[in-house]
Amino acid sequence: MNFYIKTYGCQMNERDSEALSGMLAARGWTRTEREDDARLLIFNTCSVRDQAERKALGKIMHMKKLKRRNEDIIIGVIGCMAQRMGDELFTELPHIDFVLGTGQLHELPDLVAQLVEERGVVHRAMLTGYSDDVLSGMSAHCFDENTPPVFGSVAITRGCNRFCSYCIVPYVRGREISRPADDVIAEIGQLAARGVREILLLGQNVAAFGLNGVLTPPPEDVSPFAELLERAAGVEGIARIRFTSPYPTYFSQRLIDTIAAEPKICRAIHLPVQSGSDRILKAMNRQYTAVSYLEIVNRLKRAVPGICFSTDVIVGFPGETEEDFAATRALMEEVGFDNAFIFKYSPRRGTVSAKHEDSVAMEDKERRNQLLLDDLAARSLRHNLALIGRRVEVLAEGPSARNPQRWCGKTSTAKTVFFAPIPGVNPGDMVTLEIARATHMSLFAGNISDLPDNE
Ligand code: SAH
Ligand code: SF4
Ligand code: F3S
Repeated sequence: MNFYIKTYGCQMNERDSEALSGMLAARGWTRTEREDDARLLIFNTCSVRDQAERKALGKIMHMKKLKRRNEDIIIGVIGCMAQRMGDELFTELPHIDFVLGTGQLHELPDLVAQLVEERGVVHRAMLTGYSDDVLSGMSAHCFDENTPPVFGSVAITRGCNRFCSYCIVPYVRGREISRPADDVIAEIGQLAARGVREILLLGQNVAAFGLNGVLTPPPEDVSPFAELLERAAGVEGIARIRFTSPYPTYFSQRLIDTIAAEPKICRAIHLPVQSGSDRILKAMNRQYTAVSYLEIVNRLKRAVPGICFSTDVIVGFPGETEEDFAATRALMEEVGFDNAFIFKYSPRRGTVSAKHEDSVAMEDKERRNQLLLDDLAARSLRHNLALIGRRVEVLAEGPSARNPQRWCGKTSTAKTVFFAPIPGVNPGDMVTLEIARATHMSLFAGNISDLPDNE
């Protein structure tokens, strides 16, 4: 029987969907990309912004027609929105069969087996409790058989304890828990044995790994996360390690030294800043100031030459003035971010900041959003042009999806490089290429300079 799974939201959700796909495959299910081909349809949802919820609700609503055509199909809503809304979803979407929250995701295979076998007896199911087993129960993987598994991701923590005032995640993902380091390393070993070369470690605050959910940052000489990175780098076959996202204040000297000393740890750090205004940072319950954030960035820049930064920013937080926004813009320039996800503030019911008026007009949010995107494009073009003539090390991924005549790969600094296929070079190999051209999005190696750059 075929299943279809659609994922909304962050990389944690992508990873959960992958694990669930692997678990279903082990039970004899086959994944399909076509909705009308599936007996089971799963929607793994996100609640972080209103738009994310609306998008999923619209799509699932649309599935009504499939259900009308075939009563036997099973439709499930899982993940963060399932956790947040629970049985409200049955009212909004009367054609769905189950709701499964983030705390019991590992129970999906049993749940669908029951719904298939007891069709006519059990019509609907809802599981939105929290079970500790979800931590160990979600380690399965599932690779697309047509593409070599160059990249793999591993969740190292679940949940979040930080309660940033705007954020729904702690409410829908529960308290922060870290997996045992041995389990993480074993999972990385299994991926490496399948040919995975680059590992992405995932968590809402990865740098708090192994700290038992404490809110105070560790002493300078402590970082269980750094110890995990060292062990991961030692796994045979692993060439690169990335992680997302670390909360800024957890960058102890121990962690900075580890990144500096281990070249397999990628020179691209995603360090969510949210705002450059101290007043707004305080209202967001982010435990740093613009100056202390910059201090972490500068320590990393000094310790790790060539390091690049990306970030998350929210524009239009309640009370954000033009002056606050200007501070964000200035901070972004000062750090020199190569990439950033810019979000327009979206009030989430139940969070602290939702109690305040969503005071910034949509047109101001949009204008601020666009200004930051324009700054970013100009800055990354500048950075990328500076790479012309330089030789960079690229992890080859394989043929590019849009133009299979050319290959793509990534630098340690997370920049995409397009190049002409090289005889003897396979996906997962490391190649050194000279950059001939650049746009704000990508780099082009000298060996494809005769091909058009309409990528
Ligand atoms: N744990 C990560 C972030 C996870 S959510 C971290 O703290 O770094 C991803 C991003 O969504 C956040 O960094 C934030 O920029 C954005 N976000 C979260 N809640 C939001 C809201 N209510 N409105 C707009 N953006 C939001
Ligand atoms: Fe949300 Fe803050 Fe936790 Fe990130 S650290 S998931 S922004 S509460
Ligand atoms: Fe969204 Fe849940 Fe991730 S709310 S951002 S999918 S943790």
